[in-house]
Amino acid sequence: MDFTSNQRPADMERITTPELADAFIAEAVDAVRAQVGDGKVLLALSGGVDSSVVAALLIKAIGKQLISVHVNHGLMRKGESEQVIEVFRDGLDANLVYVDATDRFLNLLAGVAEPEAKRKLIGAEFINVFAEEAAKLEGVGFLGQGTIYPDILESADGVKAHHNVGGLPEDMDFELVEPVKLLYKDEVRVVGRRLGLPESMVERQPFPGPGLGVRCLGAITRDRLEALREADAVVREEIEAAGQDVWQYFCVVPDMRATGVRDGRRAFDWPVIIRCVNTVDAMTAEVPELDWALLRRITARILAEVPGVCRVAYDLTPKPVGTIEWE
Ligand code: XMP
Repeated sequence: MDFTSNQRPADMERITTPELADAFIAEAVDAVRAQVGDGKVLLALSGGVDSSVVAALLIKAIGKQLISVHVNHGLMRKGESEQVIEVFRDGLDANLVYVDATDRFLNLLAGVAEPEAKRKLIGAEFINVFAEEAAKLEGVGFLGQGTIYPDILESADGVKAHHNVGGLPEDMDFELVEPVKLLYKDEVRVVGRRLGLPESMVERQPFPGPGLGVRCLGAITRDRLEALREADAVVREEIEAAGQDVWQYFCVVPDMRATGVRDGRRAFDWPVIIRCVNTVDAMTAEVPELDWALLRRITARILAEVPGVCRVAYDLTPKPVGTIEWE
């Protein structure tokens, strides 16, 4: 396989089995070693499937010559940054720099309500933080990236500009190391499993780069963000425990309050809106008929466990007309 090419060979076999994954890993390890030599590689490790698989692959190939930087922008889901540290630092003995930039991001976002402005601020600040960390390191010549084949196809089509945070800071003078760029998502997952990554990481559902920032609607406040994070954890836990086949499931918390009654007193708290979709390519999506008992269980738990919430709703809107995310 030619790791420098952006063209997947027409006769390349789909990586569907552990044996094919092992063969790919062996080839990729050789290619990375040949490219990097004794140089150092920097990688933005978000904890998403692609960057995690690339990190595990690079650790296998070059060990501590890989410096992974995990920026916690304060908009991660519950337990996600902790999992990155546990899997990579504790489990794989990675050279991992963990940056808790929560205050920096939330201070910057305070009072910003417009969705595109929020996305832009989060993306730009991510690059600032990452560039600052890079500047502290010496002798780094390479940048690892979790580019996968659909990214290459979509960029070539002009369908979408790469909208993930964690993109390459434009003015950094690095040579790219992109070992999974000819693979499709399902193949990346098979490879990740063979590299020993936990199932919860390999099967992680899509999560926007700006994270919970686009699900805490309008101007983000810390208390509402915390309510969202807790409610989201309940939704994930219950849907996973029920084994329901749902492609993406999360919730949003709007910047409005609703009237309720709690302990005999008037409450005036936030609503949580549960969003579940099934889709093939995220271009169109349908809303699954979630089991009623499951919806009631989620509702009861959110109302009992999440401070500041007095109402739970289920979004029935397909895409189109609604997008999957609310912002
Ligand atoms: P929409 O809301 O456009 O979402 O229907 C389609 C899919 O894309 C995900 N999404 C993102 N993924 N960075 C990402 O990597 C982003 O900024 C982003 N915004 C939306 C969304 O979760 C859904 O799966």
